[in-house]
Amino acid sequence: MHTIATIKDVANMAGVSTTTVSHVINKTRFVSKDLIERVNDAITTLNYQPYGLARSLRRKQSGTIGIVIPDNTNPFFAEVVRGIEDTCFENGYSVFLCNSDGKPAKERNYLQLLIEKGVDGLVLVSTGDDEEAMRLLENREIPKVIVDREISGLHMDSVLVDNQQGGYSAARYLIELGHRTIGCIMGPSNITPSGQRIEGFRKGLKEGGLLLDENMVATGDFKSFGGYEGFKKLLRGELVPTAIFVCNDMMALGALNAARELGIDVPEQLSLIGFDDIALASLINPNLTTIAQPKYELGETGAELLLKRINNKGRSESRIVKKTHLVIRDTCLPANSTDR
Ligand code: RIB
Repeated sequence: MHTIATIKDVANMAGVSTTTVSHVINKTRFVSKDLIERVNDAITTLNYQPYGLARSLRRKQSGTIGIVIPDNTNPFFAEVVRGIEDTCFENGYSVFLCNSDGKPAKERNYLQLLIEKGVDGLVLVSTGDDEEAMRLLENREIPKVIVDREISGLHMDSVLVDNQQGGYSAARYLIELGHRTIGCIMGPSNITPSGQRIEGFRKGLKEGGLLLDENMVATGDFKSFGGYEGFKKLLRGELVPTAIFVCNDMMALGALNAARELGIDVPEQLSLIGFDDIALASLINPNLTTIAQPKYELGETGAELLLKRINNKGRSESRIVKKTHLVIRDTCLPANSTDR
């Protein structure tokens, strides 16, 4: 059966990345003569039609994709969006990026606007369990995909991570370091990854013979100041933790700031572990130990799912769950080495 060559087929044959193939086709960046020749030879051999299929299938379409994220100041979303945008661009689509600022009303307005503007598909990282926005989406034929934040009861293509496994890994790591008095700064309770991470964290503690003391839990807003305030709340308690799991890196940065202000040395006096592995995690001092999410791949896979949906609206629903992994850097030490 004659299969239509994709940009990945061209890249594989030429021995380059799909981004390089895209830059050769669109002349958007310098590429060496040798690579240009290899790419063009592959295009000819495979009879690859850069936008032929996409354009023909898009006959009455705008060639644009709408993206709505909750916080464009958080580097986590910047990396997710980069994965979406690269994949869309390589397949002949431009993107509109909208920031809902975590506000359901703003999210609904942007979704409505993008639909009215006639985008060919939507990628959404939701503000949380926003019923009205989800009803708006469910009642519309427009191809759409949910990335990162699952919405209970909503049936559409989604690309997520195993947040329970991530929270569980954080707990097991701290227990293996010998910590017994462990606190947690969780994200907003209306956002599914928050609850899932805490669920996994509790499970990991329980397997280590520990229960998460409710007085050792602070709730933040996934922003740095929320982590700063959460840290200070935990340190005001009667029971002072020797380790804290922070449910995203931006809050962990705020917690590090609070520790500095309180004269608490991380990790000498208190261990800290984050979640996301944003680029800043490896640049700050001390470098942050964290649970890494596949941020770029979340966006890339989300865009790939959306393009498949655009080209085949009747395809069955996909739910892809990716794994997280522990990245050990400099903010955790064994409990017995903690200078309390
Ligand atoms: O840092 C932002 C957080 O919100 C991330 O952990 C991501 O999972 C998103 O849901």
